[in-house]
Order: sequence, then C-alpha cells, then structure tokens
Amino acid sequence: MNEQKVALITGANKGLGYETARQLGKQNIKVLIGARDETRGREAAEKLLAEGCDAEFILLDVGDEKTHEAAAKYVAENYGKLDILVNNAGIVLESLSGTPSDVSLETLRKTFDTNFFGVIAVTKAFLPLIKKSEGGRIVNVSSGLGSLAQNSDANCDYAAVKPLAYNSSKTALNAFTVILAHELKEANIKVNSADPGYTATDLNGNQGTKTVEQGASVITDLATLPNDGATGGYFDDEGVVPW
Ligand SMILES: NC(=O)c1ccc[n+]([C@@H]2O[C@H](COP(=O)([O-])OP(=O)(O)OC[C@H]3O[C@@H](n4cnc5c(N)ncnc54)[C@H](OP(=O)(O)O)[C@@H]3O)[C@@H](O)[C@H]2O)c1
Repeated sequence: MNEQKVALITGANKGLGYETARQLGKQNIKVLIGARDETRGREAAEKLLAEGCDAEFILLDVGDEKTHEAAAKYVAENYGKLDILVNNAGIVLESLSGTPSDVSLETLRKTFDTNFFGVIAVTKAFLPLIKKSEGGRIVNVSSGLGSLAQNSDANCDYAAVKPLAYNSSKTALNAFTVILAHELKEANIKVNSADPGYTATDLNGNQGTKTVEQGASVITDLATLPNDGATGGYFDDEGVVPW
C-alpha cells in the first residue's frame, strides 16, 4: 500500500480548489488536480509542481460520468486507494441579487447537475477506493448560502443573497453530507460540508472579502481531520455552521 496520502480535488485548476490542492500538497499529500479542461488542468498541476507539491492533472468533468470512471480506474491502477476526496467544483448560473421566482427550471437543473448530482456521481465512482484508505475523508464544498438557518435569518449578513438554484443546490449537498456520513460512520470515513466564506474568486467576479488562502483553510482542515475528528458536520473557519 502506498504510504503517501492521495487526494483528489475536483475543479482544482483555479480558485478555492487550486488553493486547497496547494495547501494539501504542502503537507506532502499527493494531489490529483481534477479539471474538465486538459490545458487548464495541466497548467495548474505544473504550477504546483514548480512550488514543490506532488501534483498531477486528472481529467474529471463532474457532469460526465465517463470521466469519473476513467479517473477512478487510473487512480485504482496507480495508487490503489484514495484518502481524500474534495468535491469542490461548483457553479452559479444566476445573478446573486436576482429574484428567486424568476429563476428558470433550466438554470435550476443545470446548477443541480454540477453542484449536487455531479458530486454524488463522483463520490460513488471513488467510494470503493476511499474504502481502501486507512482513514478516508470526503469534503463537500458547500456554502453558508446553503444554510436554511442563515437563509431564514433576516439579520444574517447575507440575508439578501438568495439565488434560488445555487442556495438550494448547496442545501441539498448538505443533506448528502449528513446522509452519507451516517452510512459511513463505522468505516472511518469522515464526510463533512465546508463553508469557505465569501472568497475572492472568479465565481463572484473576485468580489469576495476573504483571500483564497483563508477560504481554503477550512476545506484543508476537514480533509486532514484526525481519526477522532467530526463527521456529518458543517463548518467554516470559526467552527460549526447552523444547518
Ligand atoms: N468563492 C466563494 O465566495 C465561495 C463561497 C462559498 C462556497 N464556494 C464554493 O467553492 C467552490 C469553488 O468555487 P470557487 O469560488 O473557487 O469558484 P471558481 O474560481 O469559479 O472555480 C470553480 C471551479 O469549478 C470548476 N468546475 C465547474 N464546473 C465543473 C465541471 N462540470 N467539472 C469540473 N470542474 C468544474 C471550474 O472549472 P473551469 O475553470 O473549467 O470552469 C473551476 O475550476 C464551489 O463549489 C463554490 O460553490 C465559493
């Protein structure tokens, strides 16, 4: 068995995924840079290699199950296990200040395809390999915008930010976290949702108030939890986020 931990991060060619890969790579974890575009993925892996991280590009389009199968086969043949899966890839297709009742069903479906169904499909493809790890970790990159508690709190800082498709896709993702964590509770596989906070990336036109280093820190922490760490939880860099 390969002693070095192996992590796969989806959507790792930029933003929070890239920074999470960098932080994990700095901990001597092999980082597989999941990206749907070969050029962007290879460039990201090369940049990380130049920084001293053991990084490798792997083609993975969250919406294309053939790439999940091929990637899982590659990981099985070359590493025999997967220790960490970071389901980071995500999209927002509507205006953050839009009116929920105006969101089209097409936008809802496309958003859920990536942010929810895609995460489940990727996780299912890699679960047999995660079960071969001595202590698997799955981090679903959610958002505070997926919290029903925060959505229903008029005093929340982001009370006015209600893009229906995005927020509800992250709420559904949180449900996946809780339910999968329950299934895996005896398997030493921890499943948690991370809320990186409002982080400057292309997702929000780089308007976020946190740096990617700050935003990715909770994802990295959940990806490297000790064996007595939490599972089935929802965390930001200050602690527990209310569901
Ligand atoms: N930034 C924030 O303030 C914030 C706050 C809370 C949660 N989040 C969450 O953090 C995660 C990362 O977002 P980010 O802010 O880093 O955004 P970003 O810079 O736009 O990065 C998104 C990444 O996801 C990838 N992606 C999108 N669809 C994909 C698909 N079908 N298959 C594979 N990769 C795909 C993108 O690849 P391409 O380059 O090919 O498009 C890109 O690498 C998302 O889940 C987001 O919801 C972000």
